[in-house]
Amino acid sequence: MSDAPHIPVLLDEVIAALDPQPGDVIVDATFGAGGYTRALLERGAIVHAFDRDPDAIDEARGWSEARTSPPRLVLHPRRFSEMVEALSDAGIAQVDGVAMDIGVSSMQLDQAERGFAFSADGPLDMRMSQQGESAADFVNSADAGTIADVLYQYGEERQSRRVARAIVAARPLSTTGDLARVVRKALGHKPHEPKDPATRSFQAIRIHVNDELGELREGLLSAERLLKAGGKLAVVSFHSLEDRIVKRFLREASGAGRAVSRHLPGELPSAPPVFGKVSKAIRPGAAEIDRNPRARSSVLRHAIRTDAPARKEAA
Ligand SMILES: C[S@@+](CC[C@H](N)C(=O)[O-])C[C@H]1O[C@@H](n2cnc3c(N)ncnc32)[C@H](O)[C@@H]1O
Repeated sequence: MSDAPHIPVLLDEVIAALDPQPGDVIVDATFGAGGYTRALLERGAIVHAFDRDPDAIDEARGWSEARTSPPRLVLHPRRFSEMVEALSDAGIAQVDGVAMDIGVSSMQLDQAERGFAFSADGPLDMRMSQQGESAADFVNSADAGTIADVLYQYGEERQSRRVARAIVAARPLSTTGDLARVVRKALGHKPHEPKDPATRSFQAIRIHVNDELGELREGLLSAERLLKAGGKLAVVSFHSLEDRIVKRFLREASGAGRAVSRHLPGELPSAPPVFGKVSKAIRPGAAEIDRNPRARSSVLRHAIRTDAPARKEAA
């Protein structure tokens, strides 16, 4: 693990939104360094913690709450899109709260060998779960059109075709340094520019390799299925692509948006809202950003589950 542990983002606001009571069962969908989990345990909750990164879960195995009988901390080394199934295996059909803190942890970013960062050279990996297609597999095998689409959709890279052509011409790429150099050369990086132009491509490839947006959509729907009436959902996201998904989900789930069928023209008859009391976007204050610059772009949205049945089809 890195020397700089992950500092939980918007912790007080997330805990206030979840309002955990002793004995409540809460899912921490993104354990990371366990910042949220620790605060939930301190308030007497029983926590089911998920992380697809086996290193994150290994750090928690020694926690005393994971060793009590029955444990107050139950660890699930898997994707949060599988939370309904994982809790059902544990004999749990409903929970009081779900917290999601989307994205990568400081430990993942700071360890060069995980291949997320271009500030230090490491293998071009970027897999949170340490299995499946790596960033190197993707950039070395996909065609230029596919790479360009990923850079455009997930990195909002306006010169996606130019960058994709440069990547294909420079293959094989094996390190984060290789990729950063190719992108900078294609876009003409000036050393004094405040933002490295490789940032957008790294974000895009990371989102693709980990199917982060698909996971987020599936995670929100899973929370809808799992939360009991009055149960609380709190989601922290880190960039506009994610926040757009959360905002749209909550708008439609609370009946504020119009449900349009994929298959039939016109609007569907409005279903009863499955979430209410949807918060506005909550952002960190200046003091938190000073303490933890990585909190800068975070946004929290929270809501409360109604007693309406979960919807059958994805919004
Ligand atoms: C921003 S960190 C969470 C930090 C945590 N809230 C804390 O206070 O320490 C995000 C974590 O979620 C994990 N993660 C991201 N997407 C995931 C998914 N789809 N399923 C399970 N874990 C995921 C990452 O591996 C990472 O460890």
